[in-house]
Amino acid sequence: MKIIGRFLLAIIYLVIFVSNSVDSVDRHNFKTCDQSNFCKRCRSMSKNQISPFQLVPDSVSLTDKYLEAVITNTKYEGVYLRMRLDGLRDSTLRVRINEDGKQLYNRFQPVHALASEPIPQSMTMARNETTIELELEQSTIKVYITIAPFKLIVYVNDELAMLVNSNNLMQFEHYRPKPESIPDNEVGSWEEFFKEHQDSKPRGPSAVAMDFTLYSSSNLYGLPEHADSFSLKGTSGNDPYRFYNLDVFEYELYNGMALYGAVPFLMGHGKKNSIGIFWLNAAETWVDISGVKSDADRTSVVESIVNLVSGSSVDKEVPQAHFMSESGIIDFFIVLGPKPLDVTRQYSSLTGTAPLPPLFSLAYHQCRWNYNDQKDVHNVETNFDVYDIPMDVMWLDIEHTDSKKYFTWDPIKFSNPVEMINNLTSKGRKLVTIVDPHIKRDSNYFLHNDAISNDLYVKNKDGSVYEGWCWPGSSSYLDFLNPKVQEYYISRFAFNNYLGSTEDLYIWNDMNEPSVFNGPEVTMPKDCVHHGDYEHRDIHNIYGLLQVMSTYEGLLKRTSGKKRPFILTRSHFAGTQRFAAVWTGDNIADWQHLKISLPMCLSLAISGISFCGADVGGFFNNPDKELFIRWYQAGTYLPFFRGHSHIDTKRREPWLFDKQTTSLVRDTIRTRYTLLPLWYTLFKTHELTGAPVIRPLFFEFPSEENVFGIDYEFMVGNSLLVCPVTKPNVQEISVYFPGNDEVWYDRDSHQPIKTNGPIKIQVPINKVPVYQRGGTIIPTKQRVRRSSVVMRDDPYTLVVAIGLKGTAKGNLYVDDEESFEYRDGKFVYIEYEFINNQLISKCIHCNTFNTNSWLEKVMVVGIPSVFTKASIHTVEGSTELSVLYSASNQVLTIRKPAVGIAQNWTITLL
Ligand SMILES: *[C@@H]1O[C@H](CO)[C@@H](O)[C@H](O)[C@H]1NC(C)=O
Ligand SMILES: *[C@@H]1O[C@H](CO)[C@@H](O)[C@H](O)[C@H]1NC(C)=O
Ligand SMILES: *[C@@H]1O[C@H](CO)[C@@H](O)[C@H](O)[C@H]1NC(C)=O
Repeated sequence: MKIIGRFLLAIIYLVIFVSNSVDSVDRHNFKTCDQSNFCKRCRSMSKNQISPFQLVPDSVSLTDKYLEAVITNTKYEGVYLRMRLDGLRDSTLRVRINEDGKQLYNRFQPVHALASEPIPQSMTMARNETTIELELEQSTIKVYITIAPFKLIVYVNDELAMLVNSNNLMQFEHYRPKPESIPDNEVGSWEEFFKEHQDSKPRGPSAVAMDFTLYSSSNLYGLPEHADSFSLKGTSGNDPYRFYNLDVFEYELYNGMALYGAVPFLMGHGKKNSIGIFWLNAAETWVDISGVKSDADRTSVVESIVNLVSGSSVDKEVPQAHFMSESGIIDFFIVLGPKPLDVTRQYSSLTGTAPLPPLFSLAYHQCRWNYNDQKDVHNVETNFDVYDIPMDVMWLDIEHTDSKKYFTWDPIKFSNPVEMINNLTSKGRKLVTIVDPHIKRDSNYFLHNDAISNDLYVKNKDGSVYEGWCWPGSSSYLDFLNPKVQEYYISRFAFNNYLGSTEDLYIWNDMNEPSVFNGPEVTMPKDCVHHGDYEHRDIHNIYGLLQVMSTYEGLLKRTSGKKRPFILTRSHFAGTQRFAAVWTGDNIADWQHLKISLPMCLSLAISGISFCGADVGGFFNNPDKELFIRWYQAGTYLPFFRGHSHIDTKRREPWLFDKQTTSLVRDTIRTRYTLLPLWYTLFKTHELTGAPVIRPLFFEFPSEENVFGIDYEFMVGNSLLVCPVTKPNVQEISVYFPGNDEVWYDRDSHQPIKTNGPIKIQVPINKVPVYQRGGTIIPTKQRVRRSSVVMRDDPYTLVVAIGLKGTAKGNLYVDDEESFEYRDGKFVYIEYEFINNQLISKCIHCNTFNTNSWLEKVMVVGIPSVFTKASIHTVEGSTELSVLYSASNQVLTIRKPAVGIAQNWTITLL
């Protein structure tokens, strides 16, 4: 969070960052590519030169799992690089290039992003003087490597899929001793200034870069976090997309400026297939994009593939990406699909999936900077009951601490945190407190004293402890790269260390880019030094990931691994999904920011991070009631659902506008609670398969080109199509219905829509355009209560939406909603199928977990009026059931089947 004022120390911040404008980001606080010398260097390389990098033919060797070779840089004598290409399981390749032999400085490898060591897949090799041919076993993948210059050409199913270094933009600046006198054209490689900040660059130039041509794609996606359209835009004439985790005040929309997170994963999609590139590098990175379909200058894709192997550059009509990083090694993975869900599975097998979140975290969260004291918390919480609005989690921002010392409580305002938490718990609710990585330099603060005496802080380049300004004033920053720091931080979450915390308190890691109010670009200087003699430059983008890893371990350890942690983080990197949910940071209460929350979360979702949301209502400024209502309606369908607001805004708990607003916000939050079984089942599937919980339309309709650019609507799993209203004062909006063999049912009226294409939909203020796809069955709970915990044993209602073929399918996952016992098999998994006018429940995994939930109702949507009765058949025999048919909307309601949910049964319509 960010602020103008209130804090003495924030005055400095105010002068530096806010004086120019309080309405939008001050771009001048952030570098352009031209101001980032390595970006300028890499970007100015010519596509028309011949790449100086060549394989040393005699050095090529193949074990059965990987190929190794030495690469020379023909521009510098005596510079040797070592390249290793691994074939990996599930149509995946990995290429690493590092300096060969002894290095002047260690190059950083952010292995923390990887969930585990990738599993190798054997390859076979054939070669002649110019080319090496590799074949990945158990796949249809062939890789050609040209020796001079070094390039890769990847074929899938004998079709060209990807080219690497085809534009000759590979770069690898080897470490070298600083010259006595620096030539004019190298000055920026050894020292750089930005505003009043010097980056001393004691290690000199060390950039790495590579270009990729995604031959089989028409659109490119991914590369979060940027406040831009979902389908990436060409960057020619603009800056490249930038990755440098930053705390950006009131960020601007529709550009590639860096934001809080960096997931260097790019997905390419065309009518026939999808592929992905994961560029594993934690340093500042820029990515140029060209040849995408949305580019004006793009003409038709060239059919002939001339001279690929001989090395001429590729036509600009094909999507291309040029990754440029300031330091580290070249380390990239290519995942070859071919379907979108294959790509996300392949990428997830590298960086991991999100572990099943505790169910409460999928419910509604109420936050504000700040709830003033425990009485305020009590009043707000009680009012949710008074107004009959469900709510699971109250959040406390920085003011809850004793003068911004994390892991402490303000002794006056929060004098009895345990009673406060227990009060929440008695209603099934939880508390989240904020814990930031900056540490107040205060000799009365145990954490600072421990950090000094145990040497836990990040250092300046001269070895002294780095000091910057943040919320507490003078602060230092824990060096999470140091295993000793991780261990210490983990122990902070123990109940006897974090006094006032209980099992029902969870954690919010904010400001972890890290945010430094007086640092260059509001972060830490790049020449600061971390454990292992790495510069901050090398590790910057994983700083936040390292913090959440430790927080996660801490929450795990405090219950001896019994309860699932819940953490929210602002900074993120590839792999963050294994530890925390992510929100889109400090947005603004305006319609454009509501709208951008969809593409921002979609980009994260296809890049491994499904658990995403935006501050509902907008963080800065005051939403009017229309925006407030529409934002709650949209937030209902994003995975992380939290209302949050800035300290200078008006209070905006849902009952503070007028009756209609309260009622509409209540309705939509209640809808969220009815859908919790669906969200939970989708998160379980995500954990197993990496399938994004919310997904772009092209994931379900991969050959429908009309949907490739759509990011104003999305799908929840494969069953719900959601098109939130993100414009003020509109009577109707256009909703695009994908698929030429589909029927969609309006969730409110149950009216079927069979059109393939855009349709005008009336959207009065109570209308949220949401459609269930024919052919799907979704599990719901219709008895909404004050919190999800008290709904645990409630009965289910199944909503069966009949497809054009008269069938439907769905599933349901159930467990204790909070522990890890599901990993010992204690869960229920059921598959439902509607076929031949029978609904069949197949309990695939049942006997190890006891649930009291039963089946209360079945709604069959889109069924003709011929049925007047139903019977249910279980192991105990058959029973007749009463049905109610509504002819106006073709819904058959089967009342009280009253079987336990974890059973096999068949309902037959008669
Ligand atoms: C080497 O192999 C490549 C790929 O199979 C082929 O295109 C090229 O003509 C071959 N070159 C020679 C000299 O045989
Ligand atoms: C806990 O709830 C009781 C009963 O409503 C209330 O009197 C008390 O002030 C609450 N305590 C705190 C710390 O909020
Ligand atoms: C339900 O049926 C499936 C086979 O369709 C079987 O594997 C499972 O054990 C049965 N479950 C129960 C609870 O009877």
